Amino acid sequence: MAEFTVTPWEVTGEIDYEELVERFGTSRIDENLINRISKYAEPHFMLRRGIFYSHRDFDRTLSDYEKGKPFYLYTGRGPSGMTHLGHIMPWLFTKWMQDVFDAELYFQITDDEKFLFKDELTLEKAREYAYENILDIIALGFDPKKTHIFLDTEYIHNLYPIALRVAKRITFSTVRAVFGLQNSSNIGKIFYTGMQSAPAFLGSELSGEPINCVVPCGIDQDPHFRVTRDVAPFLGYPKTTMIYCKLLPSLLGGDKMSSSVPESTIYTTDTPKQVKKKIGKAFTGGAVSVEEQRKNGGNPDVCMVYHYLRYIFEPDDEKLKKVYDECMAGERLCGQCKMELTGKINRFLEKHQEKREEAKEMLEDFILRD
Ligand code: TYM
Repeated sequence: MAEFTVTPWEVTGEIDYEELVERFGTSRIDENLINRISKYAEPHFMLRRGIFYSHRDFDRTLSDYEKGKPFYLYTGRGPSGMTHLGHIMPWLFTKWMQDVFDAELYFQITDDEKFLFKDELTLEKAREYAYENILDIIALGFDPKKTHIFLDTEYIHNLYPIALRVAKRITFSTVRAVFGLQNSSNIGKIFYTGMQSAPAFLGSELSGEPINCVVPCGIDQDPHFRVTRDVAPFLGYPKTTMIYCKLLPSLLGGDKMSSSVPESTIYTTDTPKQVKKKIGKAFTGGAVSVEEQRKNGGNPDVCMVYHYLRYIFEPDDEKLKKVYDECMAGERLCGQCKMELTGKINRFLEKHQEKREEAKEMLEDFILRD
């Protein structure tokens, strides 16, 4: 079996998501759960396609919801750089969840985390990225009345008492085992998971009663939330509900998109020319020659251009299937797919960048301050 690693700080190798469900002990999002969700809305294409594919306790939270108990949403971003399309993926889904379930959303920006975990990053720079990332979040159209975004270093007054209560229940040996810390790790890293747990209880704290909290995010964040969930009952709160997506792969194939390899990644601030160049160099499932491809077809399953359509840019299942079938049959070549994907991404980014500009005037409608 191929080796792979998935932690909040490192994703390497070709991820076997089925194996990861076993390794992490999460549950699969199955037909039954999707049918239950379809009572409220046409299931999002990321659910239909198994991109949001795994969960912890979402069935229980849905049963509570059916009995009239609402839940709130919580997700986050570690501001170590500009936003890329991989980050946008769970946020698009979170926005859908907010719309369908009319839920409050707490959005944590962990400038403290990135300062502690990135040697070269200053706190000032992390905050600068935080505000850049917040523009992307607002640009996605979250409801300003129901969306509360905060930076850890600015909203600490409210987070700290919760993080402390969490921290008191976690031992050093647990943190060391879960996150692979060493004797040489700085001590901020040991405490940090308490900070990421805090918003899972913030909604309950602020309202004065236990409320279910649902966290849509990438599967890489699961180690944190295993700890959060273990602690929840000691604090008198329901175990945090998780709903996890697979990771948008690198354009070059293999691992998830990485900010440290710019060609593997499309940023929300990229120009049309940059997008065209990056998609032009993407790893595809094309054959060695046009003749060969016309004769034997391509391989969409390994093709990053196809995956970008599947993960984000082609919500229409029928159109996606057509691309798949035509590629397999050798009726469609990589150039055509690359051109179509470039067009879709650039149209998305043009609008997104306009909304990002408008978001500069809306910051205070979203940011939660002490
Ligand atoms: P961060 O900033 O690394 O990532 C933000 C969100 O994007 C997801 N993600 C991806 N999803 C799909 N494809 C990818 N290639 C990809 N890369 C990243 C992450 O899973 C995450 O959902 N420690 C967190 C910040 C945080 C947080 C949270 C995240 C604080 N509280 C609660 C999720 C939920 C971090 O550094 O995320």
